[in-house]
This record gives sequence, C-alpha cells and structure tokens, in this order.
Amino acid sequence: MTVKNKPELPDLEAIAARTLGHYDRNAADFWRGTRDHDVSQNIDALLQHIEGKPPFTILDWGCGPGRDLKALVDRGHVAIGLEGSARFAAMARSYSRCEVWQQDFLRQSLPAARFDGVFANAALFHVPGRELPRVLGELRATLKERGVLFSSNPRGDNDEGWRQERYGAYWDLATWRGYLSAAGFVELAHYYRPAGLPRERQPWLASVWRNAGEA
Ligand SMILES: C[S@@+](CC[C@H](N)C(=O)[O-])C[C@H]1O[C@@H](n2cnc3c(N)ncnc32)[C@H](O)[C@@H]1O
Repeated sequence: MTVKNKPELPDLEAIAARTLGHYDRNAADFWRGTRDHDVSQNIDALLQHIEGKPPFTILDWGCGPGRDLKALVDRGHVAIGLEGSARFAAMARSYSRCEVWQQDFLRQSLPAARFDGVFANAALFHVPGRELPRVLGELRATLKERGVLFSSNPRGDNDEGWRQERYGAYWDLATWRGYLSAAGFVELAHYYRPAGLPRERQPWLASVWRNAGEA
C-alpha cells in the first residue's frame, strides 16, 4: 500500500554526504570564523565533572578544524578527534598534532570504554532524531563507566530538516533530556549560551551528562 502525502525521510547517506560536503567546501571560511571562539566555559563544564586524576582521555566528537583538540592538549589531556569532513580532519591533525579518526557520525565504529569524556560541541544536532538513540548509545559505550558527555546544540522546538546544505535537529530541553535519559545518561548540569544575555538571545543549549553505569 502506498501512503499518500507522507514526506520522504532523507536517507542517512544523503544527510551525511550533503552536510559534510558543505563543511568541506567551506572549511577555510569556517576556520577563519570560529578559530577564536571562546568555548572554555564548555571545556571547563566537561572537565570539572570527570572523576579521578588527570590527565584524561577525551574524544572531541565532530572536532572540526581542531580548535578544541588543541585547547585540551594545552591543558595536559590526551585528545582524539572524530570528524567526517576530510578537509577538517586534515586541518585538525595539522593544527593540534592529535590523532583524528575520519568517520561518519551515522556509521561510526568506536572502541569500548576508552574515554573519560566525550566533547560534542555543536555536533550532535547533525544527527537525525530517528538515529539519535543509537548514536547516543554508541557514545555511552565508548565512555568508561561514570565517564562524562558534554553536548552543546542550537536549540529549537523539536523540528528537524535541511537548513540550506546542512541537516540539523533542534531540540528543546525537555526533549533532549528524554533522549539522554533513555540512553542511560544522568544529567549533571545544563546552561544556555552565550552567557549573560536574555534567554531569547541564547540560541545554544549546553548540557553535561554522566554514563550512569552498565549497559
Ligand atoms: C558546527 S561544526 C562544529 C565543529 C567543532 N566542534 C566546533 O565547535 O567548532 C559541526 C561538525 O560536525 C561535523 N559533522 C557533521 N555531520 C557529520 C557526520 N555525519 N559525520 C561526521 N562529522 C560530521 C562537521 O564536519 C563539523 O566539523
């Protein structure tokens, strides 16, 4: 039976290929525009919740051209990047001197229980809602027990789709909490960015989560 008027869901390969194509083509401009962004508040929010003695091993998931890999290494930690854009992966290796795995978020293969923390800055919103439970499960599995996930995403009213060449999903806090709890994370903190502005001028929702235990 054919269901009429049902919007076609874009397939996952198309989502990754078109989104990554955009970042690849605009890699130099993106780096110029973001290399001086101060996200130390987000890095601190991740590191302050990791238990045990530093140095920590951190996965920068969707590391882009490597700004935060370098910041993590400069603080004495071991940082590994994961990035789907070939150009960003090369830029990140050269800028940070870190290992960077070129992988698609939607077809990733990650080692089990390797990381003290996962830093997903402006990255998880590129995962379509229907894949989010699986991807969050994979991130939890690559964290050590009691490891910490940091996420910052542009927030919205739980809508998703294409914005020009990039696919994104824009969650509100309640829905985001629902996804993370269902994936086995416990909330540690959340806040909106940029700091010090009225809420309507804070498009970013940052949140910090602990891997609650056994899968
Ligand atoms: C908004 S940028 C954020 C980059 C960096 N974390 C930062 O804060 O500047 C989103 C990143 O996710 C990566 N990305 C988007 N879709 C991806 C996918 N399917 N697989 C792997 N990386 C992807 C992009 O290439 C880009 O580096």
